[in-house]
Amino acid sequence: MKLSVILLAPLVLATAVPKQERKITYDGYKAFRISTEHDAAAVKEKLAGLSVVPFNFNTEEHLDIAIAPEDITAFEALNLTAEVMHEDLGADIAKHETFSAYEGVTAQAIPSLTWFNSYHAYADHMQFFNDLQGAFTQNSEIFTVGNSGQGRSIFGIHLWGSGGKGSKPAVYFHGTVHAREWITAKVVEYITYNLLVQYSNNTAVKTVLDSYDFYIIPFVNPDGFVYTQTTNRLWRKNRQTRTSSSCVGTDMNRNWPYKWEVTGGASTDPCDETYKGQAAGDTTEIKALVAFTQTLKNSKGIKLFIDWHSYGQYILTPWGYDCSLKPANHARQASLASGLATRIAQSYGTRFTTGQACAALYATTGDSTDYLTGAALAEFAWTIELRPTGSSGGGFVLPAAQILASAIEQWEGMKYLLAAM
Ligand code: ARG
Ligand code: ZN
Repeated sequence: MKLSVILLAPLVLATAVPKQERKITYDGYKAFRISTEHDAAAVKEKLAGLSVVPFNFNTEEHLDIAIAPEDITAFEALNLTAEVMHEDLGADIAKHETFSAYEGVTAQAIPSLTWFNSYHAYADHMQFFNDLQGAFTQNSEIFTVGNSGQGRSIFGIHLWGSGGKGSKPAVYFHGTVHAREWITAKVVEYITYNLLVQYSNNTAVKTVLDSYDFYIIPFVNPDGFVYTQTTNRLWRKNRQTRTSSSCVGTDMNRNWPYKWEVTGGASTDPCDETYKGQAAGDTTEIKALVAFTQTLKNSKGIKLFIDWHSYGQYILTPWGYDCSLKPANHARQASLASGLATRIAQSYGTRFTTGQACAALYATTGDSTDYLTGAALAEFAWTIELRPTGSSGGGFVLPAAQILASAIEQWEGMKYLLAAM
């Protein structure tokens, strides 16, 4: 029998596909922690003209930046007092931030703890949550608060105990508000994993899950997170475009509709990292989260909210928008926060600084914890800035080898806090 081979003419593709932005490798970028000695403005002035990626905004003592290869010589000639954070940022990302594909599980099995040995893609995180939920269908459920600007699901997992679904006050967590803070999703996943897995064999964990309904959202900003993996590892904001500017993105932690209009804690320039948006709550993601948060407030109320960030090792209590104001229960919040810091340190000696957010770090307007405190009446609403402190361990690029330890120390801390509060 004679086989005839039919050659297909190559298909002509439509040209409407948007041009793919090229990935920034950060190869050859060097990162520094520059000491500012309370005069950050003077340091920034010297850096003007150099191609610099800023990492931090609390620049009273130090300014952390990455510098493009072509400007390293000029930077070194400035003779600033600085420590090296990354000798070669691109090389550190490639070497220490190991990335794996998730293999999934066979029906109803608990995912393996090897999940915490590396970083993963957004779709794998989604699968991990689905798998975990599938192993504990009696006391968990996947939910979504809505879609991101680019149509990705802002999903979460809801956990409950013996009182049944939705019967207790909420413990509410947000991760990956800022796209580049990869460790945050891993930490909330580890806490979720342990609440579910240890419920049946650890009485302290059982008591906790029997006392609260947990609502855990690992990716508040999925569009930004995906962008950090396809294009720019150091992206912070969401990916919303605006007709008023060619710059992309709004800071998800400056857009919440509570004291948003107060000046001084956010930027009105769409090109800045802390751009607040044109109006309070005008991002797709925050709109969905506000609606969801209000349903929690109106059902059983919110006992504890934690917005997980990195880096700096801080536990921050309200308020963000005013450094001299304290909530009525400030003393109680401060004492629980310092108890939490003590407990975290017991695992590996990692030191967390506690304080009122505005005073301990810097002023922010439209941040989540102010909204949760002022407009959703959460009893405790904190920001936790995870590892590292900065100089050691490399800023946002936390080596994958530290994921598990970072998660374990937070889980130990949470067991204390959830029992004590
Ligand atoms: N680093 C986070 C941010 O910049 C946390 C801010 C916490 N609030 C504060 N007032 N410092 O959004
Ligand atoms: Zn952050």
